[in-house]
Amino acid sequence: MQIQENSSLKKFNTFGIDASARYFANFSSWQELEELAYRASKYPGHQAPLILGGGSNILFTRDFTGLVLKNEIKGIKKIGEDETFIYVEAGAGENWHRFVLHCIDQHWAGLENLSLIPGNTGASPLQNIGAYGVELKDVFQELQAFHLRDKTIEKFTLKDCRFGYRESIFKGKYKGQFAILTVSFRLRKKPLFNISYGAIEQELEKKGIKELSIKAISDAVISIRSFKLPDPAITGNAGSFFKNPQVEQATFRLLKDQFPSIVAYPLEDGSVKLAAGWLIEQCGWKGYRRGDAGCHEKQALVLVNYGHASGRQIYDLSTAILESVQEKFGVLLEREVNII
Ligand code: FAD
Ligand code: EPU
Repeated sequence: MQIQENSSLKKFNTFGIDASARYFANFSSWQELEELAYRASKYPGHQAPLILGGGSNILFTRDFTGLVLKNEIKGIKKIGEDETFIYVEAGAGENWHRFVLHCIDQHWAGLENLSLIPGNTGASPLQNIGAYGVELKDVFQELQAFHLRDKTIEKFTLKDCRFGYRESIFKGKYKGQFAILTVSFRLRKKPLFNISYGAIEQELEKKGIKELSIKAISDAVISIRSFKLPDPAITGNAGSFFKNPQVEQATFRLLKDQFPSIVAYPLEDGSVKLAAGWLIEQCGWKGYRRGDAGCHEKQALVLVNYGHASGRQIYDLSTAILESVQEKFGVLLEREVNII
């Protein structure tokens, strides 16, 4: 295990930000992680290491002055089954989309709507990834994580993770404290198709699909995403930069009176989720570019780096967007992307 010094992080974050790490190393087992965490604790001015997956939900606004540890724990294995479910465990360093495709190949159902989300399996619980009507929590069984200070391995069940919309205990109370090592999933032998998200049905129709299958749903999701979202290999981005905000019913009614075309979704608890992309577009940001920092022309919720933007420039653009949405609608956006 080699620890590199003053290492560039440019190819390790999908925004393509040219920040550096004072120290950088890969680990492919918890024993290697333990050894590296121990060595890091001896550095002068010690700070907790930063665990990195695919770097697709992170914005570096500065160089990282401690140790960045890139998770390379691999392996996918079936760990059990019963009448209804197959239980599968994946190493945190497995690429998420490759894992999804592997499960589809085995006819294990449940992950198809989450196709083509960038990043690694280990980060998937962090913000309870979600897309097209499904969230990680719907297929999650449990995870194992390493406590970076106490050097213990702990198990977290569904309840322990406190999943919410783009939230978990690892983004809240335990932020920066654990490295997730493995995640296990509860997948169905017999699929329960979820095509509640309108765009999927339209895409299936367009493709002329007569008989539903998990592969057909995955292909439809891949087509929709490829059309709408910028490919980080071409244009730097981290997906949705902000969360879709939730407001009370009464606030929504006032907004609806003033802005009749507002895009919103009622939630089970009576509150309403607003489409942040719509709010941002209405403020005139869609397609905006300042230097190399911009707001994507097809999806206003996605901020992009056209080449050489710094993390600070992207962050400042996000602040300007946040302030204008607050001024026009009185709604406070919250950043989804993890800011360093
Ligand atoms: P990273 O960016 O490497 O890390 C994210 C955070 O998790 C950091 O704080 C990091 O320290 C921490 N972390 C990473 N791995 C571990 C670990 N093993 N243990 C503990 N902490 C860890 N997200 C969605 O939910 N839905 C979408 O539809 C979606 N679409 C996207 C589309 C595009 C084009 C892009 C670029 C991003 C999209 N995202 C989406 C965001 C992103 O793909 C997910 O959040 C993904 O799970 C991040 O994985 P990662 O491995 O890249 O995490
Ligand atoms: N809209 C606009 N203008 C825009 C963008 C969107 O008016 O520029 C409106 C449209 O009416 C559109 C609606 O907003 O129908 C919703 O847009 P979209 O279907 O693209 O979804 P989203 O709410 O912008 C969310 C997630 C995505 C996820 C998709 C699909 C969040 C923050 N984002 O985006 O997740 O892939 O739904 O389920 O919840 C991510 O988290 O990084 C991410 C990409």
